[in-house]
Amino acid sequence: MAPRIATFLSIALSLWTLVAAESIPKTDYDVIVVGGGPSGLSALSGVSRVRRTALLFDSQEYRNGPTRNMHDVIGNDGNIHTLILHSPAEFRALAREQILKYPTAHIKNATVKSITSIGTDAVTAFSVVDASGRNYTARKIVLGTGMRDVLPDTPGLKEAWGKGIFWCPWCDGYEHRDQPFGILGNLSDVLGSVLEVNTQFSDIIAFVNGTQTPDGEAQATASHADWKEQLKAWNIQIENRTIASIERLQDGETHQNKTTDMQFDKFRVHFTTGEPVERSAFITNFAAVQQSSLPSQLHLNVTKEKIVVDASSMRTNVTGVYGVGDANSDGSTNVPHAMFSGKKAAVYLHVQLSREDSASKVSKRTGLSQRELEKEATRAIGRNLEPQWEKIQKRN
Ligand SMILES: Cc1cc2nc3c(=O)[nH]c(=O)nc-3n(C[C@H](O)[C@H](O)[C@H](O)COP(=O)(O)OP(=O)(O)OC[C@H]3O[C@@H](n4cnc5c(N)ncnc54)[C@H](O)[C@@H]3O)c2cc1C
Ligand SMILES: *[C@@H]1O[C@H](CO)[C@@H](O)[C@H](O)[C@H]1NC(C)=O
Ligand SMILES: *[C@@H]1O[C@H](CO)[C@@H](O)[C@H](O)[C@H]1NC(C)=O
Ligand SMILES: *[C@@H]1O[C@H](CO)[C@@H](O)[C@H](O)[C@H]1NC(C)=O
Ligand SMILES: *[C@@H]1O[C@H](CO)[C@@H](O)[C@H](O)[C@H]1NC(C)=O
Ligand SMILES: *[C@@H]1O[C@H](CO)[C@@H](O)[C@H](O)[C@H]1NC(C)=O
Ligand SMILES: *[C@@H]1O[C@H](CO)[C@@H](O)[C@H](O)[C@H]1NC(C)=O
Ligand SMILES: *[C@@H]1O[C@H](CO)[C@@H](O)[C@H](O)[C@H]1NC(C)=O
Ligand SMILES: *[C@@H]1O[C@H](CO)[C@@H](O)[C@H](O)[C@H]1NC(C)=O
Repeated sequence: MAPRIATFLSIALSLWTLVAAESIPKTDYDVIVVGGGPSGLSALSGVSRVRRTALLFDSQEYRNGPTRNMHDVIGNDGNIHTLILHSPAEFRALAREQILKYPTAHIKNATVKSITSIGTDAVTAFSVVDASGRNYTARKIVLGTGMRDVLPDTPGLKEAWGKGIFWCPWCDGYEHRDQPFGILGNLSDVLGSVLEVNTQFSDIIAFVNGTQTPDGEAQATASHADWKEQLKAWNIQIENRTIASIERLQDGETHQNKTTDMQFDKFRVHFTTGEPVERSAFITNFAAVQQSSLPSQLHLNVTKEKIVVDASSMRTNVTGVYGVGDANSDGSTNVPHAMFSGKKAAVYLHVQLSREDSASKVSKRTGLSQRELEKEATRAIGRNLEPQWEKIQKRN
């Protein structure tokens, strides 16, 4: 056994000398970005303009896919006076067109199935396998894989998602301003919604779907001790009956006034008992989860369904992997944040790659000491060098 280890060590050492001289792994791309929403596209743009080679994978499942217009993104604000009509899809298509003029930028409509580290902490590298089994390598990974909204199975709800039943006041509220309004979700979340929408709506019913129980009230009290008084002060009616279905009576897609930026959706809420109630629009408080299993597959720190990142760099707790957009822990979920965080990761990782390149140039000139080489080689055994060792054994 001992001679074998000694042989292994000496081969490993000579291999490492080679590796150390080059040090930077030869990968297909500098960066692989997973996600073709605004966060991934922004990261791709940022690295491409400084001529980093990059490949972006896009499985084409976007969080705002169902919505009519994208709002509150300056210069691309929905259907204001019909001058610019950017739906999320038009926005992404324009972004792709602009980014693909950079010769080092590449985009693939494909799903990433797995990502494996094939490097070290000092010099990171990853192998990425897509749904067709093709293998790509890169030195850095950016995950802009987004969140998935978990919607109840209530008939009529999914069909109306982003089309009169919406998720954020900035996204769709303005087009329904002053209309009869509903809040869907648990009792404990009602006041939070009221504090966000009270400038857009005054006729508000909270449909709490049976959560006004002693438990539900205790949860509400835990977040706001005087929630009852506050809801009363805002004149919020609480409807506790169990929701059976939500029926669309009118479609704001075809009933709009583009001059005034108004959309006229109309719905009827049916309950398991009693008379239905009509409303024009709703805001919701439903759960959202990571869309992709890649963050957990990579053993990233995912806490409360968010990839925990360092906000100054978008680094995750796994070296070489960055988390951007809705999926990260920045506490912000909108298109401007997605673009900002993608850009931030692009800047940080570009300079990080350059730092590694720079260190490699310097170490080429000075070389590592024999002791450092031995330490590196020992550390590398069983990781980088195992495949080479097997090849050498086979050849012999
Ligand atoms: C109904 C609705 C309306 C909204 N309206 C607005 C609005 O008006 N204004 C606004 O600012 N925000 C709006 N938002 C929020 C906005 O959608 C998100 O903040 C934004 O999409 C986040 O961008 P992202 O790049 O992080 O994720 P996403 O846009 O969700 O993109 C995720 C990307 O990752 C890809 N992906 C995931 N896993 C893989 C994999 N394994 N392989 C390959 N690709 C993968 C997906 O296919 C997709 O391309 C809205 C949200 C909803 C739900
Ligand atoms: C990828 O999807 C985009 C948007 O749907 C489409 O425009 C493009 O043609 C697709 N590319 C390929 C190679 O299929
Ligand atoms: C992908 O390529 C890398 C580097 O050559 C290799 O280590 C890895 O095992 C390959 N993975 C697959 C699934 O082929
Ligand atoms: C309402 O509650 C019922 C019963 O708990 C549940 O099945 C349904 O999904 C809920 N609907 C909504 C819109 O929350
Ligand atoms: C709300 O509905 C739930 C479920 O049906 C019920 O247990 C609870 O007593 C109701 N609360 C009130 C205040 O009526
Ligand atoms: C839109 O609203 C404006 C201003 O109130 C009004 O003059 C116009 O007739 C409306 N257009 C339609 C199609 O309802
Ligand atoms: C709403 O309350 C139900 C019942 O207590 C719970 O299962 C669910 O997770 C809550 N939803 C949210 C979004 O908090
Ligand atoms: C994961 O992130 C949470 C939230 O920032 C933090 O409290 C926890 O210590 C982290 N865990 C690890 C293992 O890094
Ligand atoms: C990252 O955090 C996760 C979960 O909190 C933990 O399991 C993992 O070991 C951490 N990874 C590193 C490299 O610190």
